[in-house]
Amino acid sequence: MEKSVGVAGRREFLKGAAMIGAAAAAKCGMAMMPDEQKAWDKYNAMIIPRPEGLLEGEPVLQAPAPDSMGVAFAVTALANGFAELADNPAMEKPVRFMAEGMPLAGIDDRVLRVRMTDLRPGTRYWYRVGAAKLEHPVGYWTKPSEIVWGSVHSFVTPGANAPSHFAMMCDTHAAFEQMARTTKLYRKIGVPLVVWNGDVPNSLMNTKDDLVRNYLVPPENDGYAADTPIVLNRGNHDFRGVAANRLGEVMMTRLPGERRARHAALDRNFAFRMGDVALIGLDTGEDKPDHHPANGGFSRFTQYRQAQTEWLKDQFLRPEIANAPYIVAFVHIPIVELWPGANPGTVLEDYATWQKECADMWGGVLTANRVQLVLAGHIHRYRHDAATATRSWAEITGGGRGGSTYQTLVECKVDGGELLVRVHNVDKGGIAGEHRFKPRAVGA
Ligand SMILES: [Fe+2]
Ligand SMILES: [Fe+2]
Repeated sequence: MEKSVGVAGRREFLKGAAMIGAAAAAKCGMAMMPDEQKAWDKYNAMIIPRPEGLLEGEPVLQAPAPDSMGVAFAVTALANGFAELADNPAMEKPVRFMAEGMPLAGIDDRVLRVRMTDLRPGTRYWYRVGAAKLEHPVGYWTKPSEIVWGSVHSFVTPGANAPSHFAMMCDTHAAFEQMARTTKLYRKIGVPLVVWNGDVPNSLMNTKDDLVRNYLVPPENDGYAADTPIVLNRGNHDFRGVAANRLGEVMMTRLPGERRARHAALDRNFAFRMGDVALIGLDTGEDKPDHHPANGGFSRFTQYRQAQTEWLKDQFLRPEIANAPYIVAFVHIPIVELWPGANPGTVLEDYATWQKECADMWGGVLTANRVQLVLAGHIHRYRHDAATATRSWAEITGGGRGGSTYQTLVECKVDGGELLVRVHNVDKGGIAGEHRFKPRAVGA
């Protein structure tokens, strides 16, 4: 890990008379102009009080990868952000990372995003986030406060040596009280990673604050991802409202090094191992065709799905994916026809209950590679469609907010030489269903 130098560590400003003396000693036209000396004096005279309340809520771990981890957190004033990382809970000999951005760190007055890099796969780390409030005593000259640090949390990086254990929640739809039952449950179980499989908001996201409230500081759910990295896989509602395409300001994208150059635009698809299981994230997009007036003529979901098809094929060329004993793919909208005549998402009427374009493009690729399971959401109820003679994978959908159904947490864990999938009924408690999958043939 490379140590990033914090702003506070670089302050070398000369003060008052010392500066005048230094300039006079130069004797070669470098004497400080009076106005500049005034600027230095003003800069140095400004005392920034410790910015209490600068950190809003606990941090949200996100975009986990075997060698990196993102973390974003909300702030209440213009600030630079930091994360300190250590291999011990006492935080001895920490490595410090600055908010992502080069050469300018990503300072912001609402959200700070830090990427912790050069990590080891399948390894537990401890970390804390911090922020320094920024003031401008003189023009653009920026002065930071002391760093305010949050509490210490921990996480485990993904990788083939990580626990074969994760979970899916979906369709939380800003029903924060109900969502809290889910987030408490996975923390109680000790699930090391959660895929948030779409439809996070309920209504339009028109401002950055809408994004912050939905993804970063959801009421009743503080700390939901402080120790449990979240992998966000968007649903149709995550694309709605004029701020939807600013999601990257709040929830970090995957690092470019995770994909080949020709897939550069696909910055949210993921494929990585959690122990014996490879997780693959595919984005089904909106639930209406591109020519639907709701999309305003600026959506390209069909093209996006096609691009993901090429990306998906490439994932099976990676040994760590091709050789995984189990493969679980994530989609938001189901890709199994739910019943004859169910809306396939290609017509103008109503909205998709399943995504036929994605089924046609991806279903065969998944079968050709003996994928065992697809986890979906969108229909707000638990449903299991078993594999068939022509389809290698089963599909399990999770429950969602409201209605006559119940919210689910779909927990996946390798147990006794099989992948055990437990569907938790979050609202009533207990297990709604269990499914087991055998290892796939590798190298066939
Ligand atoms: Fe939904
Ligand atoms: Fe949906």
